[in-house]
Amino acid sequence: MNDGNIKAPVIAVDGPAASGKGTIARALAHHFGLPHMDTGLLYRAVALNLWRWGGDPGKEFEALRACDDLGFDPEDPELRSEPVSKIASMISAYPSVRTALRARQQAFAQQEGGAVLDGRDIGTVIAPEADVKLFVTATAEVRAERRLRELEGRGMHAHYEEVLADIHSRDERDSQRGVAPLRPASDALLLDTSTLDPEQSVGAAVRLAEKQLKAVKAN
Ligand code: CDP
Repeated sequence: MNDGNIKAPVIAVDGPAASGKGTIARALAHHFGLPHMDTGLLYRAVALNLWRWGGDPGKEFEALRACDDLGFDPEDPELRSEPVSKIASMISAYPSVRTALRARQQAFAQQEGGAVLDGRDIGTVIAPEADVKLFVTATAEVRAERRLRELEGRGMHAHYEEVLADIHSRDERDSQRGVAPLRPASDALLLDTSTLDPEQSVGAAVRLAEKQLKAVKAN
């Protein structure tokens, strides 16, 4: 990808829960040979710390304390458990928590070899200069189906109605919060994956990114 004086690309992938942004971001990283950061894991790691201590997610100072010593194993299944997901959604609304996690994400985005980051505010706050900004969406119903299958795949029992209600409340919290609300950057490319399977979603994302990178190179 990187041919001499052309700097390696930065790709931002944002979108709501279970929109397919994680799968797309991993595939783009693989396709372009770039390192990938799932920024949701940072918020989940803070939530897991807080949960293990028995801290109160309703108190910003306790959530901020849980940002210290943020070592975590990305494979830890507890990071993806329902209580931790819910706490992550709550504590990610705190400005001080977002600030505490910002430097780590920006350092990753600014590394020399380029990067792919996925989250909620990559294109708007963390890497507003990204070469490619994708905003991945799907209807809440489709996302609830996907999340349900994902939970069942991990041997967890869940009801569609509950998962859908959770998706709605997380969408609401993500898009209504005062800092870094979930919204597409003005120059983001929108990708609706409602009617696409994972392979088709990845194919569409690669095409959009390649086209955009060609345009960036030409300028
Ligand atoms: O894909 P899913 O919503 O299940 O989770 P995630 O991407 O792992 O993010 C976990 C939580 O962190 C979400 O509820 C978001 O509210 C929050 N988050 C955020 O606020 N900003 C980011 N850049 C990434 C995640």
